[in-house]
Amino acid sequence: MAEIHPDVERILFTQEELDQRVSELAEEINRDYAGKEVLLISVLRGSFVFMADLVRKLTVPCRVDFMACSSYGSGTTSSGQVKVTKDLSDSIEGMDVLVVEDILDSGRTLNYLLKLLEARRPASVRLCTLLDKPDRRVVRVNVSYTGFVIPDTFIVGYGLDYGEHYRNLPYIGGLKPSVYEAETK
Ligand code: IMP
Ligand code: MG
Repeated sequence: MAEIHPDVERILFTQEELDQRVSELAEEINRDYAGKEVLLISVLRGSFVFMADLVRKLTVPCRVDFMACSSYGSGTTSSGQVKVTKDLSDSIEGMDVLVVEDILDSGRTLNYLLKLLEARRPASVRLCTLLDKPDRRVVRVNVSYTGFVIPDTFIVGYGLDYGEHYRNLPYIGGLKPSVYEAETK
């Protein structure tokens, strides 16, 4: 296993645990979408690692597209405002869409995004999130596939960042409080 980063306090999910869970999610998706083509929409930037791993475990025909939203500044709390910073490349009309997210927190980003996508008349829209922090939910969101439910703690790695750092860590870990306390002083 990779050596732990000095800013990481503890590892929540190892590379092996992530791989195992992503395989299980892919199996469910393969089963549910049998006979269909699925359009995976990755919500950038956090979900790019999860998306890359998930798509390689799918056996159903699929396409990928990317979208970016921002609801956070560079800190650890949501600004409450969502905006689309990069839109999809293609139309989703009549497609079976699966939105792939890294983490569901307040729910504001996905709630906004789902409404926007539904207005474009896809055949269906479902959500797949690697992580869910239900304690932080402000807006209700229906999720079809969840990797792990986690407590209200700020995490990094496997695509997730703090101030655009740590996305490259192959595991998911909690940051040492000294890292973000130093920033807010
Ligand atoms: P929501 O709109 O509050 O649900 O925010 C979801 C987005 O916030 C995610 O896609 C992440 O980019 C970011 N986010 C929420 N919690 C964390 C975390 O613990 N670590 C890193 N990013 C997070
Ligand atoms: Mg994100």
